Amino acid sequence: MKHKKSWAEPYRIKMVELLKMTSEKDRKKAIKEAGYNTFLLKAEDVYIDLLTDSGTNAMSDMQWSALMTGDEAYAGSKSFYNMEKAIQKYYGYKYIIPTHQGRGAENILSKILIKPGDIVPGNMYFTTTRLHQELAGGTFADIIIDEAHDPKNLHPFKGNVDLDKLDALVKKHGSKKIPYISIATNVNMAGGQPISMANLKELRAYTQKHGIRIIHDMTRVAENAYFIQQREEEYKNKSVMEIVKEICSLTDGATMSAKKDALVNIGGFMATNEWDVYEEARNMVVVYEGLHTYGGLAGRDMEAIAVGIKESLDDNHQHARVGQVEYLGHKMMEFNVPIVLPIGGHGIFVDAKEFLPHLTQDQFPSQSLAAEVYIDSGVRTMERGIVSAGRKADGTNYYPKLELVRFTMPRRVYTQAHMDVIAESIANVYDRRHKIKGLKMVYEPKYLRFFQARFEKL
Ligand code: F0G
Repeated sequence: MKHKKSWAEPYRIKMVELLKMTSEKDRKKAIKEAGYNTFLLKAEDVYIDLLTDSGTNAMSDMQWSALMTGDEAYAGSKSFYNMEKAIQKYYGYKYIIPTHQGRGAENILSKILIKPGDIVPGNMYFTTTRLHQELAGGTFADIIIDEAHDPKNLHPFKGNVDLDKLDALVKKHGSKKIPYISIATNVNMAGGQPISMANLKELRAYTQKHGIRIIHDMTRVAENAYFIQQREEEYKNKSVMEIVKEICSLTDGATMSAKKDALVNIGGFMATNEWDVYEEARNMVVVYEGLHTYGGLAGRDMEAIAVGIKESLDDNHQHARVGQVEYLGHKMMEFNVPIVLPIGGHGIFVDAKEFLPHLTQDQFPSQSLAAEVYIDSGVRTMERGIVSAGRKADGTNYYPKLELVRFTMPRRVYTQAHMDVIAESIANVYDRRHKIKGLKMVYEPKYLRFFQARFEKL
């Protein structure tokens, strides 16, 4: 008999970081003081930190060694050229502007390409991406397929674009009003869901016909490539590395938060294949980030990114990465916890609408559930529902269809035993779900309110 091959890690542990263990009494006090917002907890009061996969990666021995070779020259540092070379080689974009992280790149790109009154269609919004589009005078329009808004729909590529939705926008506004289509690989807010190569190729054909750019939010491109390899027949014998390069080749430029797939703790960049756009970005980066050969990063950060990009494209790495997330998801399903399906790339998204049907969306079910999970076990998660969605330009709330709590997995950080503790904790909370109350918002910041909003129990 042939046994199945498990997803085990292609690395071993060389150094450990000790964690503080807390009591339920400590945690009740801490979350109350934090205004029931997991962003306002002190990290040292957290046991397993699933707030985000952003900047929380464990770097490899090779990345740590690369840090030591960082060239800290203000201008023209060797480390910049190493990073630029890695981006050109593995992603294929021509011109690179380093930035301190993803939103720095979004700011510059949005300011350059968007004019007031423009429409920016995209495969679901991301918080910072949409805000920069709006601050530049644009209006985001969601053109993701309907299946993406349904947590139970098993479509293998819920990140796909609905070309009819796009065509309707082009007919209504004209292609001149659409500076680019914003395409995220592995759509974060949909639950870490991929776009298929077939869909991207169709989109490419359409945009070429209408003279519209595709700008690629490539924050989780390697995870998306892994799903293409697993789910698209034509790609089953291609490597993640080859697939990533092909995805990028179908787009005109990119913004990247290297804090995710590129396996570092800080960094990002903007990329473009257009000289004019590059020229302007190179001017603008000096105002907002730093010189065009460091963009807010230390030389050592750029060295770590150069190594991290390559490591992220290893098939075995992605197999273990997504395998761990799937392990956690299946464990939760054994306890009947409602989660977004198919299981995504960077975390498990618990469906708070189904988990807490007695709460209305205005009682912040996801926010409340994230606080309860923290109280139960010290596991920190993040709200991805009405609080994250924020308000429209006219001041009214967005009411997103998805009301989720994200259990986001840092890369190469936690073990399988940690996964068991997390699943048991959400199962405990599920057992007492009928007793969970909603929250009211008592402080609301103007921008990206989810980061700093404060709540009280109803
Ligand atoms: N695009 C996507 C899809 C992201 O997930 C993020 C960050 C950004 C852009 C912005 O990048 O943080 O480097 O400025 N997402 C983090 C998260 C914050 O927790 O999902 P950044």
